[in-house]
Amino acid sequence: MSEPVAITEEAVSQAVEAALSAIGGASSVAELKAARTAHTGEASALAKLNALMRQVPGDQKAAAGKLVGQARGRVNQAVAARETELAEAETAARLEAERVDVTAASTTWRAGARHPLSLLQEEVSDIFVGMGWEIAEGPELEHEWFNFDALNFDEDHPARAMQDTFFVDPPERHLVMRTHTSPVQVRSMLDRPLPLYVLCPGRTYRTDEFDATHLPVFSQFEGLAIDKGLTMAHLRGTLEHFARIMFGDEARIRLRPNYFPFTEPSAEMDVWQPGAKGGPRWIEWGGCGMVNSNVLRAAGIDPDEYQGFAFGMGIERTLQFRNSLNDMRDMAEGDVRFSEQFGLVL
Ligand code: PHE
Repeated sequence: MSEPVAITEEAVSQAVEAALSAIGGASSVAELKAARTAHTGEASALAKLNALMRQVPGDQKAAAGKLVGQARGRVNQAVAARETELAEAETAARLEAERVDVTAASTTWRAGARHPLSLLQEEVSDIFVGMGWEIAEGPELEHEWFNFDALNFDEDHPARAMQDTFFVDPPERHLVMRTHTSPVQVRSMLDRPLPLYVLCPGRTYRTDEFDATHLPVFSQFEGLAIDKGLTMAHLRGTLEHFARIMFGDEARIRLRPNYFPFTEPSAEMDVWQPGAKGGPRWIEWGGCGMVNSNVLRAAGIDPDEYQGFAFGMGIERTLQFRNSLNDMRDMAEGDVRFSEQFGLVL
């Protein structure tokens, strides 16, 4: 560009036009910065025109000053306007590039799987509902009276300690985390009309180690039938029917004498599992017996009129031997890969 030699309208408008076209042509903030330096910096035509002010005769100074001042004003305004435009465009481009389509189908989507313990609990409940039984529930934080006293545990009966109870403070409230689902027997007898056929599934607590065959938080299901003329034969028939649905037609049960304070007589129930992985075998499945007359009396039922049978099994234990699982801890740890082995049942 030729050096301006005097402040003329032509020279000023030439400098302005050159500046405006460079500013308008800048397509990034960096290019705009370069254009601004070239057209408003010390070496620019406008700066040089401004420097010529010193040579302008006094009577023309005002007019020349106005001309150059307005020109510099226009150029600075154009820089500011273009700067805003470019910043907005750059933000818009960045937002576009970073756009996330929240409606897009995910490529890593996985269906969850229901926990096998929930599925088993439902399967057992369905079997009994199919026989006309009802499902009953009770609290996990239970009064000692329901968990022990009403079930015929003596005050100082070693079974209280045997059950490895979590006692809950303060002691004068006599609250425990229920050690079995048997307190729901008593609650059902008090709450429901007779005859009574209930299955009570639920969570139970004992101060057991967390190991391959024990969980301190586990679950049980309890069966209770109260009716006129019930005998051990009804108990046996019910359990055998249940075992066949759970383990196949060749499954059998056997009862071995045992002791529970709340049943008399009491038995340990074993099941013959025909389809076990390593070949058919007997498995200890749970406890059962005829409801002790002291328990019937504690619930206000006349033992001369009504009899009852009851049974209780662990759900984790049932799942463990039915599916030949080595370590019960897998059932508590919540890894979806464990649940998935049982199928993606929703
Ligand atoms: N409540 C007993 C237990 O947890 C099981 C049981 C239930 C035994 C009902 C007899 C009758 O070990």
